[in-house]
Amino acid sequence: TKQKLWGGRFTGKTDPLMHAFNQSLQYDQRMYAADIKGSIAYAKSLTLVGILNQEEEQKIIQGLHTVEKEWKDGVFKVKEDDEDIHTANERRLSELIGPLGGKLHTGRSRNDQVATDVRLWLLDEVKTAERDLKALICVLVERADNEKDYLLPGYTHLQRGQPIRWSHLLLSYAFSFKNDLDRLSQIAPRIAVLPLGSGALAGNPFVVDREFLAKELGFDSVAENSLWGVADRDFIAEYMMWATLLMTHMSKMAEDLIIYSTAEFGFITLSDAYSTGSSMMPQKKNPDSLELLRGKSGRLFGNMAGFMMTLKGLPSTYNKDLQEDKEPLFDTVDNLSACLRIAEGVISTLEVHGNKMRAALTMDVLATDLADYLVRKGIPFRETHHVSGRAVALAEARQCQINELTLADFKSLHEEFSEDVLAVERRQAIGGPSRKMVERQISKLRHESQA
Ligand code: ARG
Repeated sequence: TKQKLWGGRFTGKTDPLMHAFNQSLQYDQRMYAADIKGSIAYAKSLTLVGILNQEEEQKIIQGLHTVEKEWKDGVFKVKEDDEDIHTANERRLSELIGPLGGKLHTGRSRNDQVATDVRLWLLDEVKTAERDLKALICVLVERADNEKDYLLPGYTHLQRGQPIRWSHLLLSYAFSFKNDLDRLSQIAPRIAVLPLGSGALAGNPFVVDREFLAKELGFDSVAENSLWGVADRDFIAEYMMWATLLMTHMSKMAEDLIIYSTAEFGFITLSDAYSTGSSMMPQKKNPDSLELLRGKSGRLFGNMAGFMMTLKGLPSTYNKDLQEDKEPLFDTVDNLSACLRIAEGVISTLEVHGNKMRAALTMDVLATDLADYLVRKGIPFRETHHVSGRAVALAEARQCQINELTLADFKSLHEEFSEDVLAVERRQAIGGPSRKMVERQISKLRHESQA
């Protein structure tokens, strides 16, 4: 007869709607390998304390390998009463090896099991994210290295500010992503804490060796408090906060590039591979890839914020609300991974129009340098700022660029101006857009993120 794993104390039947409501197998089955890995380690720990003998352990492990293979081959048959990946795997194990399968869960609860599985699963995804993020940093750095000669206006308030290098802009994105890479390595140890052996909430009565389990499963440390061990989901919240912050960087980069790809700016052209057309307006080439990168940042923020609301107000230890951790986490991991790879593709294939960038460099962006020129002659910046502003106004009145003003014009504004006015590329301090400082950034990023 069909029976739920926890069916012993129940007499009434579950409402079918409730059954579907409670079921998480549709989405948590992606953790099947982590669940089986955890069970294999747990079986070994049960042998070490004499609950299983060697032969039983081997049978269980072989059975678990078969279950894993069924999932991998796509032939695992889900039964109606399977509630989640943990009950499904255990049910199948017992079908394969008989009542012995029922010994595996001795001293273990789905509470410490699920917390272990999610951490194991996420640790794998951290490695993938790290690899994808490094690849993105790498293409930004490579482009920056190859395109140091393109100058364009740097903008504040989206108004032309001062001349910068295209490379300098690309590297500014890379530095944000480099910080994200560092942050990821800082949160990883808090994911790699083993809950298994915390039981339902009050620890493991058979005194399994938790240090052994941690080592078997590749965790850095063991959850020191069982109440905390079964309930902590901060590692999920933190991962989503991390992803959200990364996506705000992504969104900023996407927004810049969308603006620069308009006909009005024309600084870059997106490759066809990352653009789409309009079903109505034949002339259009839309930057959908960049718009989705920008749009997904809102979605990932929502996943994080929604889950924080789930956590808020929970009492201690396990509550079924915690099952709501998985869908936002999985969605975040999937979309983040897609975003990182799309961004890498967009950046590595876009076309740069140096002439358009150059043309946007009207001479008014040199107004700060003009002010600095007089500073070098000993005049206070507050005064030189004013003089330079008057030069901009004069050029505007004459409908010319400030470099087209004559020396006499300059002298009429301040007697300290002489022939050498308008020599630029002085920004040699660390962090600036000079060629030398851009090269310094490239070598720092290459060195520190193996990009
Ligand atoms: N599917 C559940 C989850 O994801 C597993 C834990 C169930 N534990 C329990 N006591 N009902 O949270």
